[in-house]
Amino acid sequence: MRLLQVSKLGNPVLRTPCAPVPPEEILRPEFQELIDDMTATMRENRGAGLAAPQVFVTRQVCVIEARAEDPEDGDPEIPFLVLINPEISAIGDEVVEDWEGCLSIDDLRGLVPRHQKIQVKALGRDGKKLSFKAAKFFARVVQHEVDHLNGVLFLDRMKDLKSLMHLQEFARHGRDYETRRRRAR
Ligand code: NI
Repeated sequence: MRLLQVSKLGNPVLRTPCAPVPPEEILRPEFQELIDDMTATMRENRGAGLAAPQVFVTRQVCVIEARAEDPEDGDPEIPFLVLINPEISAIGDEVVEDWEGCLSIDDLRGLVPRHQKIQVKALGRDGKKLSFKAAKFFARVVQHEVDHLNGVLFLDRMKDLKSLMHLQEFARHGRDYETRRRRAR
């Protein structure tokens, strides 16, 4: 497995809608290798997901995984998943704002509204159909990655850029911002 270079904000590749992967290509060694390399790159950079344009490939494929740092403390955990040609639709109208970051947008966090519950259809790395429901953090990560495949970044989804924070300030001021905002409602 190779670690791949991650494309950064400003590179046009992040704004290019991705082409679907022809199903007959999925089992080819080159494509399987791309999935392995993307997985290694996501884990090395401690991302919860990585989409192909983030490694300069404009194909509809992303990898997702979130590990609980301390399972006792209820941190979110998402099992490793490969989504090829994913399609998502909202279940219900509940939309929730929470913090997001992106490996292509270093050291920034911002509040992003996302559907709380979604239906996901895709192909897996074995080329077989996947269909499942995702909620909360899991649904958020899927929506973030599927956005990448359409050339959309989390910044585009933010309702108010005032919540955009450098990581250094986020630790101190992120929760304060949310509290102030709730009071202001
Ligand atoms: Ni991202």
